[in-house]
Amino acid sequence: MSLVDALQWRYAAKRLNGEAVPEEKLERILEAARLAPSSFGLQPWSLVHVRSPELRQRIHDAAAPQPQVIEGSDLLVFAVHDSDFYQQLDHHIRHTAETRGMTESDLAGFRDMIKGTLDGKGDHQAHLAWAARQAYIGLGVAIAAAASEQVDASPMEGFKPDALDEVLGLHDKGLRSVALLALGYRDAERDQGAGFKKVRRSMEKFVYRLG
Ligand SMILES: Cc1cc2nc3c(=O)[nH]c(=O)nc-3n(C[C@H](O)[C@H](O)[C@H](O)COP(=O)(O)O)c2cc1C
Repeated sequence: MSLVDALQWRYAAKRLNGEAVPEEKLERILEAARLAPSSFGLQPWSLVHVRSPELRQRIHDAAAPQPQVIEGSDLLVFAVHDSDFYQQLDHHIRHTAETRGMTESDLAGFRDMIKGTLDGKGDHQAHLAWAARQAYIGLGVAIAAAASEQVDASPMEGFKPDALDEVLGLHDKGLRSVALLALGYRDAERDQGAGFKKVRRSMEKFVYRLG
């Protein structure tokens, strides 16, 4: 199945049937998210994977009262790194040097460029907003990866991040949740949306072809 066919097949399922996503499919979806690009490769976000039904029930009750949270088999939490971004930059430079067999001084120009971008964005809140944009690229990649595995994926912003972070103890891990993705299999009988046509602007209205 081509990627476009998979994207036609997918929809944001609201009701899932409880069937478990096989381990190998789950791992490929996680790997796709890990490989998502980010600005400067900084990857200022992580994935939190929750399978335990009890834990998902607690998330549902305290922070995200949508059926997909408990009717899927897995819940992915996209969470930005809440630590100082200049420290994240130092870590990224060390990691890049180690991975590519370079010295940190080889990367001094690259480091200065990223530092300039962080300076220009302003305060920690602005850095967090930038990090969330990177996490959303991962969300999109994970949605596409799930579709290519014929796994239903329900993205969710309709939840209380502080309450969810509390349930999962994310502050202690230096994380803040920004988006959720429930994984599972559609329950077409109970899900009205399963039969709906996709609502998207036409290609003519969507793409400005300027030459
Ligand atoms: C970032 C994001 C957040 C979303 N949040 C929710 C949500 O909280 N609850 C929900 O039922 N659907 C949510 N959706 C699903 C959208 O409503 C859905 O993707 C959109 O209507 C397009 O329909 P389709 O994905 O079924 O093609 C979200 C989608 C995205 C991409």
